[in-house]
Amino acid sequence: MADNFVTSTLDAPDTPFDISLRPPMFSEFAGQEKVCERLELMVQAAQQRGDVLDHVLLSGPPGLGKTTLAYIIANAMSVNIKSTSGPTIEKAGDLAGLLTTLERGDVLFIDEIHRLQPAIEEYLYPAMEDYKLDIIIDQGPNARSVRLNLPKFTLIGATTRSGMISAPLRSRFGMACRLDYYVAEELQQILQRSARLLNIEIDAEGAFEIAARSRGTPRVANNLLRWVRDYAQVKAANRVTRDVADRALAMLDIDADGFDEMDKRILEAMIHKFQGGPVGLNSLAVAIGEEAGTLEEVNEPYLIMQGYLKRTPQGRVALPPAYRKVGVPVPNRVGELF
Ligand SMILES: Nc1ncnc2c1ncn2[C@@H]1O[C@H](COP(=O)(O)OP(=O)(O)O)[C@@H](O)[C@H]1O
Ligand SMILES: [Mg+2]
Repeated sequence: MADNFVTSTLDAPDTPFDISLRPPMFSEFAGQEKVCERLELMVQAAQQRGDVLDHVLLSGPPGLGKTTLAYIIANAMSVNIKSTSGPTIEKAGDLAGLLTTLERGDVLFIDEIHRLQPAIEEYLYPAMEDYKLDIIIDQGPNARSVRLNLPKFTLIGATTRSGMISAPLRSRFGMACRLDYYVAEELQQILQRSARLLNIEIDAEGAFEIAARSRGTPRVANNLLRWVRDYAQVKAANRVTRDVADRALAMLDIDADGFDEMDKRILEAMIHKFQGGPVGLNSLAVAIGEEAGTLEEVNEPYLIMQGYLKRTPQGRVALPPAYRKVGVPVPNRVGELF
């Protein structure tokens, strides 16, 4: 098993396991209350008018439910959903191929929409605004532009990097929602639902223990549940209690705060190699042997949200909890920052 079991599964493609645990409707989707309220209202209003839902942009770290929500929205609107992702659309023709198969009201889901090529983005603007697509066919002297009329459709874009969405693209979404990390109680609820679906016997404390160590992320929670189930099957007569969950997670080196090897490596590098920072993202990435993009999108947001790290214009800075986690006294100059 990879040493960074928790986060290594975070930016991987959706597995059959992910899909099987995906709640199909708003009522089964825990947490993100404000976002859900807004989306449900939009859906209801569009349905009352017999209209097509406006374009929606969903942003937030991986594993928080963006893809799930896209499917829930399509389901609530009773329309088809076609799914693709930014980097897989290479040519304008790919986009045309997708858009022309849509029926009125259908959802086109573009995951990682911040990774669309700028040229493809340009094609998307008139498609989103006027439901028209101007494509160039043929080459050389025969090249000509052909205008395709598209059915009115809903674009749902998902991104882990909302800051990388260009202003013109962002402005064409009627609604932009940002998903946040979940609190342990919400994750506990999600775990209990997953356990029911997977026929796992788990008590409330067992579910809470896993929830508290899931980095605020449903996908992590479900992945840990799968591991704890294996552990319980071999070592604990198939019953997950707090103690069983604790022992199972300790075996993965996931500590009481849900930190895994990678988190600890980041904090240790910050403190031991860079004297607590400020250190630039790229230098830190090299020091821990991880890609800068992954570090920034997957590992760092949670550490920042929990108050271990801070982003400053000079680079990343370790905060007092980081020193405590690594077991090093907090230097005075760090204390003075607060
Ligand atoms: N609010 C939620 N309630 C229940 N399960 C959820 C929720 N959010 C996410 N999940 C679960 O977590 C997994 C990851 O969610 P996903 O939508 O794929 O995240 P993202 O697209 O943001 O990376 C899904 O398989 C789903 O089972
Ligand atoms: Mg997704």
